[in-house]
Amino acid sequence: MLNKNVEKKLIEQIEKEGYSSNLYLAMASWSESNGLEGIANWMYAQSDEERTHMLKIVKYVNERGGQAIISALDEPPVDFSSVKALFEKVYEHEQMISASINDIVDVCLKEKDFTTHSWLQWFVNEQIEEEASVSAILDKLKLLGDQNNNLYLLDRDILAMRNQGSENQ
Ligand code: FEO
Repeated sequence: MLNKNVEKKLIEQIEKEGYSSNLYLAMASWSESNGLEGIANWMYAQSDEERTHMLKIVKYVNERGGQAIISALDEPPVDFSSVKALFEKVYEHEQMISASINDIVDVCLKEKDFTTHSWLQWFVNEQIEEEASVSAILDKLKLLGDQNNNLYLLDRDILAMRNQGSENQ
């Protein structure tokens, strides 16, 4: 039987992953409507990934004798001031998610739930990858500076990054 405190934390994480999926879907829609096909593609794929993270936790909680609860989600933002602001928000959000995963790891150790602790390592590693890929995009954006004339090239670049990423999976 899943420890009640661990179950509570995992249910909170289900909501956070669900929100992440909607947040990136909102970002995909903003990007697509602004003609940024590569970024939109990246965001759509990211949104799908977040849904798989959410499902992974739902299934784990239920398999371990708990009950995964699906809660209402906050509405994600509609508009973003720039592509830089968009990716800064993604980075900030992923850092919050990493902290949240680490918090669950901490509760698992306190409750001596070593099974969930071990299962969570996949998420710990996934967060390292997610933060690194967003950080790489932010580095490219820094190179662009304040001029947006190279945005078209950056958009192509991000499309290529995503395609390369899926080939390596
Ligand atoms: Fe599921 Fe991007 O964390």
